[in-house]
Amino acid sequence: MRGFFIVLFTCLVLLPDPLRAGVASIGSITPGFGGTQMNYINNNGLFLESNNSEFGFGFLTTPASVTLFTLSIVHKSSLRLIWSANRASPVSNSDKFVFEANGNVVLRAGGEGGTVVWSLDNTGKNVSRIELRDSGNLVVVSSKGVSIWESFDHPTDTLITNQGFKEGMKLTSNPSSSSNMTFVLEIKSGDMVLSVNSLTPQVYWSMGNDRGKIINKDGGVVTSSSLLGNSWRFFDQKQVLLWQFVFSDNKDDNATWIAVLGNTGVISFSNLGSGTSAADSSTKIPSDQCATPEPCGSYYVCSGSKVCGCVPGLSRVRSDCKSGIASPCKKTNNNATLPVQLVNAGDSVDYFALGFAPPFSKKTNLDSCKEFCNTNCSCLGLFFQNSSGNCFLFDWIGSYKNSGNAGSGFVSYIKVATNGVGDGNNGEDEGKHFPYIVIIVVVTVFIIGVLIYVGFRIHKRKKTLLDDHGDQSSEEDNFLENLSGMPIRFTYKDLQSATNNFSIKLGQGGFGSVYEGTLPDGSRIAVKKLEGIGQGKKEFRAEVSIIGSIHHLHLVRLRGFCAEGTHRLLAYEFLSKGSLERWIFRKRGGDILLDWDTRFNIALGTAKGLAYLHEDCDARIIHCDIKPENILLDDNFNAKVSDFGLAKLMTREQSHVFTTMRGTRGYLAPEWITNYAISEKSDVYSYGMVLLELIGGRKNYDPSESSEKCHFPSYAFKMMEEGKLMEIVDGQMKNVDLNDERVQRAMKTALWCIQEDMHLRPSMSKVVQMLEGVFPVVQPPSSSTLGSRLYSSFFKSISEEGGGTSSGPSDCNSENYLSAVRLSGPR
Ligand SMILES: *[C@@H]1O[C@H](CO)[C@@H](O)[C@H](O)[C@H]1NC(C)=O
Ligand SMILES: *[C@@H]1O[C@H](CO)[C@@H](O)[C@H](O)[C@H]1NC(C)=O
Ligand SMILES: *[C@@H]1O[C@H](CO)[C@@H](O)[C@H](O)[C@H]1NC(C)=O
Ligand SMILES: *[C@@H]1O[C@H](CO)[C@@H](O)[C@H](O)[C@H]1NC(C)=O
Ligand SMILES: *[C@@H]1O[C@H](CO)[C@@H](O)[C@H](O)[C@H]1NC(C)=O
Ligand SMILES: *[C@@H]1O[C@H](CO)[C@@H](O)[C@H](O)[C@H]1NC(C)=O
Ligand SMILES: *[C@@H]1O[C@H](CO)[C@@H](O)[C@H](O)[C@H]1NC(C)=O
Repeated sequence: MRGFFIVLFTCLVLLPDPLRAGVASIGSITPGFGGTQMNYINNNGLFLESNNSEFGFGFLTTPASVTLFTLSIVHKSSLRLIWSANRASPVSNSDKFVFEANGNVVLRAGGEGGTVVWSLDNTGKNVSRIELRDSGNLVVVSSKGVSIWESFDHPTDTLITNQGFKEGMKLTSNPSSSSNMTFVLEIKSGDMVLSVNSLTPQVYWSMGNDRGKIINKDGGVVTSSSLLGNSWRFFDQKQVLLWQFVFSDNKDDNATWIAVLGNTGVISFSNLGSGTSAADSSTKIPSDQCATPEPCGSYYVCSGSKVCGCVPGLSRVRSDCKSGIASPCKKTNNNATLPVQLVNAGDSVDYFALGFAPPFSKKTNLDSCKEFCNTNCSCLGLFFQNSSGNCFLFDWIGSYKNSGNAGSGFVSYIKVATNGVGDGNNGEDEGKHFPYIVIIVVVTVFIIGVLIYVGFRIHKRKKTLLDDHGDQSSEEDNFLENLSGMPIRFTYKDLQSATNNFSIKLGQGGFGSVYEGTLPDGSRIAVKKLEGIGQGKKEFRAEVSIIGSIHHLHLVRLRGFCAEGTHRLLAYEFLSKGSLERWIFRKRGGDILLDWDTRFNIALGTAKGLAYLHEDCDARIIHCDIKPENILLDDNFNAKVSDFGLAKLMTREQSHVFTTMRGTRGYLAPEWITNYAISEKSDVYSYGMVLLELIGGRKNYDPSESSEKCHFPSYAFKMMEEGKLMEIVDGQMKNVDLNDERVQRAMKTALWCIQEDMHLRPSMSKVVQMLEGVFPVVQPPSSSTLGSRLYSSFFKSISEEGGGTSSGPSDCNSENYLSAVRLSGPR
C-alpha cells in the first residue's frame, strides 16, 4: 500500500522520513541507501540525479521488455542511456540496488539471497558516497574525496563529451535480437580500431586508415581519445593532439555529444543538447554502408547502398546461400570428418578484414593456400592475392563487398559441406560430372516439358467449356481484395526493404520498436516490430483481425502485417506529426504550441474515434491504453487513435470483461486497481485524464509543481468548487478566449469522465455530444474523486501506523498490485 501512495502523494504533504522514498537524491547518495524500481516508479525509476538535473541514475526499462530494467545512467531530456551496469542481465522491478554501510555496492536479482547481477567491492576503501556528476559520470568517492571507481572508466556502448577513452578500455555494442555478433571499439597498437567478436576477432575499421580524419601531428602513437565540441580527438601519451575526426558542422563548443556503437557495428553521433529527440549527425563510422562485417549476413555480397545478394560462387552450389558447416572441426556421429570442398566465390568480391588482418602465409601460391585451408578444419574461407603471394584464412566469414569491375586483386574460396549438395560443381572439378549433369538436365527439361504440355491442354479444354467468364474471376478477386482495404500480408523482406533494414526508428513502445518506412508505391508507413515476451501469436492475430477490419477517420489504419517465423510486424499508415504527447508536454525548440482550436479538434476527434470503437463496431472494442502517446496526429493535426495492442474483444452481450492488469499508470481507471470488472467506461476515464492534460498543457502528475497543483485532477476539482475553473487552462496557449463556451464544456466534460464511480461517467458518444454542445454539460460532482478517496485512505494508513497497529497492506494497493501493472516504456 505504501508504495502506491508514495507514488501519488509525496508532493502533497510533508512525509515522515520512512516514506521519503520515491524522491530522487540530488548529487550523491551515502552508504545505507537501497532502492528498487518500484520504490522510484514515479520518478521513472531514477533514484539519483546530477546537480544540474541533466542526468539520472536508476532503473530504466529495456527495449526488449517493459518489465525488465537495467541500472543505468540516462540523459533525462533525450532519454538516451549513457552507461549501464547490467546490460546482459536485466532485473525486475522489485530487485534491489544496495549501497551497503561498508561501502560495497550490490545489485541482486530475485530478492535477498538472490544472485548478484552487478557489484563493486569497496571494502576497506573508506567509501563516503556515490556521486552523479554534472558530466554524467558516476563516481564512488572516498572520505578523502578521492575517486575510487568511475563509470567513465568502464564504458558500455556509449562515449559522451569529456569522457576520456584510454588504451585498455572497450566499447561493446549490445547484441541485437537477430544476430549474436557484437562489435568492439578499442585502442590497439596506437590506433583506434573496430572489430567483430568472431572466433578470431576480425578488424573492419581503424581511425588510422580512415580518410576522414584531420592529422594534427604525424607519426604519434594514440593512447587516448575524447569527444570535444564537434570532433573526436585522439591524443598520445603526453596529451598531444594527433588526429581529429569532425562529425558535425555544428560548432557549439558547449554541446554534449554521444558516440554510440550500435548493434550493426556502426558508430553514430548524437547531440543531446537539442531536447527530446537527440539530433543525430549524418556522419557515421564506417562511412561506407558495406564496410561493416555483416551489412547483409554471412556469405552475401553487399554493393552500393546496401544491396545484398548471395555470393555468386556459393549460389551456384547451394540454394540457401549457406556453407552447410554448422560447427567447424566437430566430427559427425560416426567419427567421420564432414566432407567438404572449396568453392570459388567468384570475381570482384572483396572482404572487409583484408585491409587489417595479417596474412596466414606470405609469398606462397594458390595451391598451397588452398591446401592450408583444406587441412585446417577451422578455416571456413580463404583469400589469395596473386600479386603479393599472401594467403589469408578466416574461421568466420561475414558479408563480402562488391569490388566493382576493377576486381579486388584477390581470389577467394569458400569451404562448403558436400553432403546434401549432390550435384555441386566447384569450378576446379568442372568437367568431371559433366555427362551426368547433362543427362540429368536433359531428362528434367523433358519431364517438365511434358507436364507443361499436358497442363496446357487440360487448361485449354476447361477454358472452352467454361467460356470466358471463369477466366476473369481470379482477376476480379484480386481487384476486390485490394478494394476492400483488408491489410496486406507482407513478407519480412518486404518490410525490411521498406524500412531500409529498420534504420529509422520512430519510437519505442511497450511491445516493440516502431520504424519509418516507404512502400514501393511511395506511401509512407510506420512499422511496428513486436518483440519480447508478452506478445504471443494469439494477441498478434487478435490485433490484426480487429484493426484490419476497422476503418474510421479518427482511427489509425493498419496497412498490413507480417507473420513469418518469429517475426511479428504491423505496418500502419504513417502520421507525420507524431504523437500528441510530443505537442503538449515536451515541446521542442522549433515546435509550435498547439492553439485552442487545434486542441479542441484533437479532443473531439479522439472522442469520435473511441465512440466508434465502443459502439459502432461489430464487436465492441475497449482500447485499455488511452494516453497521449497513443493519439497520433496527421498533417492537419487531426487526431487518430492508435495502438490497439491491448484491446480486448467484447461481444455485445458482455458488458464487463475481466482481464489481467494492463494499461499505463496515470491513465488507469480506479476499477483496474480495485480489480472490479472493467468496461468501456475505463476508456472514458483514461480519455478524461488525457483531455485534462490537453487543456492544462501539463502532466496530470507533476512533482515540479507546487504541492497544491502537483496532482492536476485534484487541483481541477478544487478550482471548480471555488468557481475558478479558468485557472487550469494552459497559460502558454495563445488565442484562447476564456468566454469561449467550448473551454467550459471541455473542462466539465473531462471532470465528468474521471468520476470514480464508473456509472457516473458518460459514454463516449455522450462525450462527443457534450463537446459539440448538443448535450448540455452540468456541473460535475466533485466529492467522489479518485484523488480524494486515496487521499483519505492515505491518511488512514498513516494514522494506523502512528497507532502502532501492524495492519497488513490492504489488498487493493499491495505491492503485488503495482508489480502487475504494465508500465509503458519511453516512446
Ligand atoms: C580508512 O580510514 C582509517 C581511519 O580513518 C585509516 O586508518 C585507513 O588508513 C583508511 N584507509 C584507506 C584505504 O584510506
Ligand atoms: C552538488 O551541489 C552541492 C551543493 O552545491 C555540492 O556540495 C556537491 O559537491 C555537488 N555534487 C556534485 C556531484 O557535483
Ligand atoms: C545466439 O546464441 C544462442 C546461444 O548461444 C543461440 O541459442 C541463438 O540461436 C543464437 N542466435 C542467433 C541469431 O544466432
Ligand atoms: C558556452 O558556455 C560558456 C560558459 O557557460 C558561455 O560563456 C559561452 O557563451 C557558451 N558558448 C556558446 C556557443 O553557447
Ligand atoms: C569416436 O572416437 C573417439 C575417440 O577417438 C572414441 O572414443 C569414440 O568411441 C568414437 N565413436 C564412435 C561412434 O566410433
Ligand atoms: C587454422 O586456421 C586458422 C584461421 O582460420 C588459424 O588461425 C590457425 O592458426 C590455423 N591452424 C593451423 C594449425 O594452421
Ligand atoms: C599471378 O602472378 C604470376 C606472377 O607473379 C603471373 O604469372 C600470373 O599470370 C598471375 N595470375 C593471375 C591469375 O593473375
